[in-house]
Amino acid sequence: MPSITTRYFLQTAGTLLASLVLVACGKQEPPAPAATAPAPAASAPAPAARVYVVGTDAAYAPFESQNEKGEIVGFDIDVVKAVAQKAGIEVKFINTPWEGIFNSLNQGDRDLLVSAITITPERKQTMDFSSPYFDAQQLIAVKKDSKIADFSHLKKLKVAVQNGTTGDEVVTKLQGKASPNIKRFESTLLALKELEAGGVDAVVADNGVVVHYVNNNVGAKFKTISDASFAAEQYGLAVKKGNTELLEKLNKGLADIKTDGTYNKIYAQYFGGAPAAPAPAPAASK
Ligand code: ARG
Repeated sequence: MPSITTRYFLQTAGTLLASLVLVACGKQEPPAPAATAPAPAASAPAPAARVYVVGTDAAYAPFESQNEKGEIVGFDIDVVKAVAQKAGIEVKFINTPWEGIFNSLNQGDRDLLVSAITITPERKQTMDFSSPYFDAQQLIAVKKDSKIADFSHLKKLKVAVQNGTTGDEVVTKLQGKASPNIKRFESTLLALKELEAGGVDAVVADNGVVVHYVNNNVGAKFKTISDASFAAEQYGLAVKKGNTELLEKLNKGLADIKTDGTYNKIYAQYFGGAPAAPAPAPAASK
């Protein structure tokens, strides 16, 4: 009797164990599509607030840079934060080197980019831009004692630029693609350092960044030269081509901060005064 019970017990236990193992294996066999497949939209609860990942090349003061605490700060950052607030979306900034910044958008690693990015026809082919949020132009930086007076003087001189920027574009156009005199750097900061070190005769880069550097590095003994040949540029926020959903939110947010004065407040904080706007100035007091 006891032996039968034991055998029965063992058999039952064995069968049970076997079926447990089978169940377990069975669960693992299909590579978990059931576990990871998103719940059908109809039955899904209200989606948790989605955090949009913002890529920015934070070596570009005053637009984007890292403070002593390692936080990403700047005009662009404040603009996007204000836009996000109006649009009711959450954003998170990730320092993203300029070199790979457009790729990161295409790969889906970043949802949007803010990086003093000039809206150009070529870039528009591979990404979508918000409405413009800032006017810019190229500016030449040289040493104070330099005899360079305009852009054409740079034709045969050594010029430092940030690789793949609009500054790179204009200098490449002037000197030719094969020119050995264009020194391309990963960041505009490095290009300016090269000028300071005497390795090049000039830097061509966005006016806002050049002016900021000259003002904050008096010891570098730079002066700036503007040139009428430089086209007007406008910065935009970039999203992946076809991401109209996010683009509409951003454009709405941008419009909102422009009308309610938030944009002007941020502008004044970084550049002083108000942007050259079509809005007529209030009548001057006599
Ligand atoms: N505006 C220029 C361009 O779009 C330079 C932008 C570089 N921005 C930066 N954060 N490094 O080409």
